[in-house]
Amino acid sequence: MVKRENMKQIPVHHISLNDPAFIANPYADLPILRKELPVFYDPQYDRIFFNLHADISTLLRDKRLGRGMLHRYSREELGWPPPDPRLAPFRRFQDNVFMDMEGSAHTRLRGLVSKVFTPRQVEGMSVKLEAITHELVDAVPHDQPFNFVSQIAEPLPVAMIAELLGIPEEIRPHLRPWSSAIVKMYEMNPSDEDIENANNAADEFMETILRLSAERRQHPQDDLISSLSTTELDGSRLTDTELAATCIFLLNAGHEATVNGSSLGLLALLRNEAALANLKEAVAIGEGDALLKTAVNELLRYDTPLPMFERYVLEDIEFNGYPLKHGQEVALMYISGNRDEARFPNPNELELTRTDNPLLTFGLGTHYCLGAPLARLELQTVFRILFERMPGLRLVGEPKFSDGFVIRGLTELNVSG
Ligand code: HEM
Repeated sequence: MVKRENMKQIPVHHISLNDPAFIANPYADLPILRKELPVFYDPQYDRIFFNLHADISTLLRDKRLGRGMLHRYSREELGWPPPDPRLAPFRRFQDNVFMDMEGSAHTRLRGLVSKVFTPRQVEGMSVKLEAITHELVDAVPHDQPFNFVSQIAEPLPVAMIAELLGIPEEIRPHLRPWSSAIVKMYEMNPSDEDIENANNAADEFMETILRLSAERRQHPQDDLISSLSTTELDGSRLTDTELAATCIFLLNAGHEATVNGSSLGLLALLRNEAALANLKEAVAIGEGDALLKTAVNELLRYDTPLPMFERYVLEDIEFNGYPLKHGQEVALMYISGNRDEARFPNPNELELTRTDNPLLTFGLGTHYCLGAPLARLELQTVFRILFERMPGLRLVGEPKFSDGFVIRGLTELNVSG
């Protein structure tokens, strides 16, 4: 039994996550927080924030916290109001996203998806990935500036995940707008307009995948929609709605973070002369892939595209002397843990050969990113081909950040070959 009177009080502080200056450079404030407020409660967001690598790693492995609570308690038990009817179309998708499930429901769906979306299958995509990357690099001007985000970073992972799933060409132009509308719902306090756009996008997206999966059940092809439609684990299969939601989730998860990971990664390289020179030299002598194996992890540690994830506390617990109450939400600042001086020597240095690199960027524990091998391969391939073909690549002007923190990235990164 945890005695509340012996516990430490959690300090109160407000962090302005949506402040554009913080989004563009959170690294000025985070060391101060780690030192003075490693754990704090923000009343405006009603969340307890954790900033240290050790705390975040421990909490991510603790089964007394979860991405959801409904596997343990009913809405009535939690005192939650019924779901907002305005969100019904969005919820038909979101309620079937396995990343937000826990316990046996999560194990079942993750198991079914892992059975067909394997690291081996990803390796098999490398030739296609190289071809798509070359096509994109062919299409950009080689003697004047271009926006890396819109010309390469965005289309590449969308093309890859669409290819993996087997989305027909004519539908592909809709993927990015649908996905962008849906992921607005994951930011703090979405507006009424965001909600309406997300509902419309979820509806159109779900109907499209339901139609495609019905076709693939009749005429299976060599793609994930077909294999997800037929795969079985312990006698269980995906329902139609689960299948459609899973494909949409893979599409969203499969590119939103990768776009930002490659853009922020390229920006970090172009701003760090020594690291850039090392990478260019390795690429020039044909050893780019060897260096990029560690370099990609380091780039994803150095600047974190998904800076913060949340968990619910499932029962009253004590954590390092702090009381965490049942139902409380905690915000885990992966972006801060990734620069924690207690875990990483020289955390603010971009060291492309860093091998002791327990980055938090892909999470940890039961929800560890299922797409990490694909994301790594994509970043490795794009940086190698880019510097092979444009060894003089340089930054032009200042990059522009998008306005969200939860999915943090760039809208503009102008570069010139
Ligand atoms: C740089 C790119 C990427 C980053 C930074 C990233 C990051 C993450 C993180 C942090 C989580 C766990 C969330 C949590 O801790 O609550 C996660 C889960 C997941 N990611 Fe990724 N991801 C990336 C790319 C991908 C790709 C390319 C795919 C697949 C096509 C993918 C599919 C998934 C899936 C399916 C999950 C859910 C796992 C589960 O809940 O069991 N991700 N990702």
